[in-house]
Amino acid sequence: MSSEPNRIAELVARLSEAIEAAASPAELANAKARAIGRDGALTAEMKQLGKLGGAEKAAAGRELNLAKQAIEAAIAAREQALASAELDARLAQEAIDVTLPGRGTGAGGLHPITLTIERIEAIFRSIGFDVADGPEIEEDFYNFTALNTPENHPARSMHDTFYVDAKDAQGTNLVLRTHTSPVQVRYARAHKPPIRVIAPGKTYRVDSDATHSPMFHQFEGLWIDEDVSFTDLKSVYSDFLRRFFERDDLDVRFRPSYFPFTEPSAEIDMRFADGPLAGRWLEVSGSGQVHPNVVRNYGLDPERYIGFAFGSGVERLAMLRYGVGDLRLFYENDLRFLQQFNRREG
Ligand code: DAH
Repeated sequence: MSSEPNRIAELVARLSEAIEAAASPAELANAKARAIGRDGALTAEMKQLGKLGGAEKAAAGRELNLAKQAIEAAIAAREQALASAELDARLAQEAIDVTLPGRGTGAGGLHPITLTIERIEAIFRSIGFDVADGPEIEEDFYNFTALNTPENHPARSMHDTFYVDAKDAQGTNLVLRTHTSPVQVRYARAHKPPIRVIAPGKTYRVDSDATHSPMFHQFEGLWIDEDVSFTDLKSVYSDFLRRFFERDDLDVRFRPSYFPFTEPSAEIDMRFADGPLAGRWLEVSGSGQVHPNVVRNYGLDPERYIGFAFGSGVERLAMLRYGVGDLRLFYENDLRFLQQFNRREG
């Protein structure tokens, strides 16, 4: 080794340059090792010190110590620079633009079947009908027997009805109600005439295709008093349909039919004057004058009280009103379908 100041100064300059050029902590560690590591260039110079003696050794030692301090300062500065560069990069990457508009949570909307039920309720409330509900897991008695449905009636066959294995505490047979008609009986037993009520809700039958779902909705209607006639049924229901569809030019007809709980019984059909379904009779409801046996099961005297009932499909009316061709769309929970019924303003 020699003590020429230029040689050591050049070495420091070269090593410092490599340190400053390190682009990552790993590169910096390599540059550091090459300078002051065990086999580093400056370390090698220091190892030579032992060979010198006296004043020469002291001078060279001082010079090398200063050189080492300069290298260590360069390493520390570079470490600092790399760390703050990394921090800057991370901050830039994670930057949040607080001036952007928020994403919002998205407002929910009502299901088209719920909207339809609300519409039906509003129309019937406006003419003095109460709105009631009843249990979906229903006693066999209310679903069938009280409605004059004998034991061997086809509506009781396993093909239509979901029977519930469990019985209630009194050992009563239970079913998933196959229609909303049992609410007639429950409501009429709990209220005094005049009775004017609709009962919308879920019903269940073993059935599934484009126009049938094992769970669907009906609304039951009942008007009982001392002088309610079939004419009242015709005007109430025809008026309801015209208001529901918002048109006066609907044709409505009452076609003779059979239900155990009404006598006489009628299917209610309607026909649009124009539009894609124009000219076709569409069945929308069962109806009739309540059978005397059922009035008796209300706890009322059928010689004194008389009236009408009807039971209509909510999905059916919703499909006709909105032009929906497949009932299953209501239950697939596809937002593209459902959102159409809740268009937001603006
Ligand atoms: N419950 C009947 C059904 O589900 C519909 C019905 C018909 C209800 C006539 C009534 C009625 O109240 O009077 O098919």
